[in-house]
Amino acid sequence: MNKLLPDAVLRSVEIYRAFLRDHSIGIPNIHAVLGSGIGSSFVDEWVPSGWESIGTLDFKTLPAITAATAPGHPGIYRFFREKKSQKVLCLQVGRLHGYEGLTPAETALSVMVPRLAGTENFVLTNAAGGLKLEWEIGSIMMIRDHVNFTGQNPLTGPLYTTTDGKTVGPRFPDLSKAWDREFNDQLRKELSASGLTTHDGVYLGVAGPSFETPAEVRLFAQWGMGTVGMSTVWEAITLAHAGARVSGFSLITNLGCGLNPGVVLDHFVILEASKVAAKKVIAALFTLAEKS
Ligand code: HPA
Repeated sequence: MNKLLPDAVLRSVEIYRAFLRDHSIGIPNIHAVLGSGIGSSFVDEWVPSGWESIGTLDFKTLPAITAATAPGHPGIYRFFREKKSQKVLCLQVGRLHGYEGLTPAETALSVMVPRLAGTENFVLTNAAGGLKLEWEIGSIMMIRDHVNFTGQNPLTGPLYTTTDGKTVGPRFPDLSKAWDREFNDQLRKELSASGLTTHDGVYLGVAGPSFETPAEVRLFAQWGMGTVGMSTVWEAITLAHAGARVSGFSLITNLGCGLNPGVVLDHFVILEASKVAAKKVIAALFTLAEKS
């Protein structure tokens, strides 16, 4: 059954658009979701000289979006404009997760409100456990594809329509191009130019919040998966359904549980490892935005 998008979503899209109007900026050319530690280490000195900071929109001001609760995830959108070209980059600092008690569709609203407001290009980043012993901590895996191992799908439920009566996407979306190869290659180029080591692979999304057992990690590694984490797959499915162009990567902050027996995993190990690469990641995203 088709159904009009919930009122809270439509109002959130209006508030988001009004923010852009009030600050005299256009629709962001790129919306990048910054995973654990990447965004929370961000400081204004990292904004390149050709860009200016425009302002911040808090998830709390959008009725459809729940405030973020995970450590290292403040839950804000930060907008930047390139002075010369007027291009706009939106950095989403923090995201929502299923383990916070939200449904898959609710977690994806932090990217769907910008999508419904008109943004086409999305970069989804995450901190993740590496499943290949030869990939170093601090290196990057470009997400060529994903496995949704959460057992849930954000598109479960009614097929939503926008106010013009069109459905947001098809009932049974094809995900063979959910991760855009060309966009991913552009992103990879900028990450390498920033000094990060990049690999290619498949991201496996789990529900969390417990880390995986060593037996699960061994299984995922045998399946050939590259990284494992607790986010991203629901956002990717929802955005692909809504016709967005999606690229993204995992920042490998640790080896999967049991692969590095000396290390006990906790969230702060992950935040610390993210901070080391964050500056280079941010530099790459601004350059990508300049060139796209
Ligand atoms: N597993 C799941 N999520 C994660 C990990 C991990 O090893 N590292 C960072 N996020």
